[in-house]
Amino acid sequence: MKKKLIAGNWKMNGSLAANEALVTALIAGMVNTNCRVAVCVPAPYLQQVQRLVTGTAIELGAQDVSQHESGAYTGEVSAAMLRDFGTRYCLVGHSERRQYHGETDSTVAVKAQRALASGITPIVCVGETLEEREAGRTEEVVKRQLAAVIHTNGHCISELIVAYEPVWAIGTGKTATPEEAQQVHAVLRGQLRAATEQADRMFILYGGSMNAANAATLLSQSDIDGGLVGGASLKVPDFLSIVAAAQ
Ligand code: 13P
Repeated sequence: MKKKLIAGNWKMNGSLAANEALVTALIAGMVNTNCRVAVCVPAPYLQQVQRLVTGTAIELGAQDVSQHESGAYTGEVSAAMLRDFGTRYCLVGHSERRQYHGETDSTVAVKAQRALASGITPIVCVGETLEEREAGRTEEVVKRQLAAVIHTNGHCISELIVAYEPVWAIGTGKTATPEEAQQVHAVLRGQLRAATEQADRMFILYGGSMNAANAATLLSQSDIDGGLVGGASLKVPDFLSIVAAAQ
């Protein structure tokens, strides 16, 4: 069986002091950890967190990447720059980027391509809004989002990670039930199977109010290979409990 992956998404939180305290405590608490663990940190802290996690079981991730390779794109951070700081993963197409920064399915697909070209594993986020779920459109929406990524990346998609994050479950305390989540994960797995023979070894993470109490049942679903954790990734005991639930 593949080891689960638990990735923390710190979002726009942290400071030099808080990051050091958080990462140091996580490392101390992760003895005999038998799953993969990553933290996706704000870009200015990549170097700091790289230093803190080097030689430990924690891997480094970023939260976004530019769709451009280099050049006159003020404020953007390229995949090659992320790579310079040992970044192993990069979130792509998080719903907050889609919602507040106008990222489209095709932008997200190109960002995934940029990450892959620099040897970074994109964690491509898909998920429906509450309105879309209530209209019975969940499957259609997540399939459309993933289809764009498959279309642009061809056989390379076997190298990426998918995260199903229902928008209505993010930061709301509302979680998809394990059955609801598994149902969507199975749809995504089926779509990946149609695109690559490697689909069964690929990771599909669940994100959206994952916490110490609900992690174990979510992670026991057959197509849930790990978690993408927001709020709880900033609290040492909570994140460590989720990591323990993933063993
Ligand atoms: P919460 O765990 O805070 O709901 O956030 C989930 C998320 O957006 C992770 O990327």
